[in-house]
Amino acid sequence: MKKILAIGLVLVLVLGMVACGGGGEDTDADVPVYKAITEATFPPFDTVDENGNVIGFDMDLIAAIGEDQGFKVEFVDMGFDALIPAIESGTGDIITAGMGITEERAEKVDFTDTYYDSALIVVVAADNETINSVDDLTADMKVASQIATTGAGKVESLLADGKIKEAVILDGFDACMLQVINGDVEAVIVDEPVANAYMAKQPGKVKTVGDVMDAESYAFAVQKGNAELLEMINTGLQNVKDNGTYDELVMKWIAGETE
Ligand code: ARG
Repeated sequence: MKKILAIGLVLVLVLGMVACGGGGEDTDADVPVYKAITEATFPPFDTVDENGNVIGFDMDLIAAIGEDQGFKVEFVDMGFDALIPAIESGTGDIITAGMGITEERAEKVDFTDTYYDSALIVVVAADNETINSVDDLTADMKVASQIATTGAGKVESLLADGKIKEAVILDGFDACMLQVINGDVEAVIVDEPVANAYMAKQPGKVKTVGDVMDAESYAFAVQKGNAELLEMINTGLQNVKDNGTYDELVMKWIAGETE
């Protein structure tokens, strides 16, 4: 009986603490805040709202993981080519940028478990009738992609193989899309879900052609050797998958948007 009372008392105390923690800001001093870094011209994964706040699937997902694991995140927007150096130097804690795992990157940062499967696709102006796949690109054409991305790697390898005239490497994906719409470049190579989201938001401007290429899986990344943070993110990711939050976020940002 005494035991039951004691357990009851402990329960009341624990519940009381949980309630306080959830309701007020009083315990926030103990909650670590990690800098989640991204490049925010990549909707639906990474973008900014009308007030300049960084939002997107990646932000909601890492925030949900943090809630599960007891950490908070603050978002910082920077060049895509600056992300890995920022992790290496410790000015950022977690890359949340629709970044695909590659061998080269994995030498510099530690990747978490994957959270989204993607692939590259060719995007052309909606009225382009000559390019129906990557094989229709020719040695007189310019093709754009975002700096330091897997898409840029693809464009650069097409150039190295003599298949296109120029690789136009730009800072943001929004700029790439504008170039193809304006006719400055013949095509853009970008992640397929990002192309789909663009077409859903701006119908009639661009279209995707051909099959997807070069499958990749997105993961978060932390500084090499930060096993503690890596483990927290992996555990939290599994938990938000198990409790349905992950599926809700896919519906909110990706599947629901492009249907
Ligand atoms: N998935 C591609 C890559 O890993 C493109 C990512 C671009 N992300 C961004 N936030 N701009 O290179």
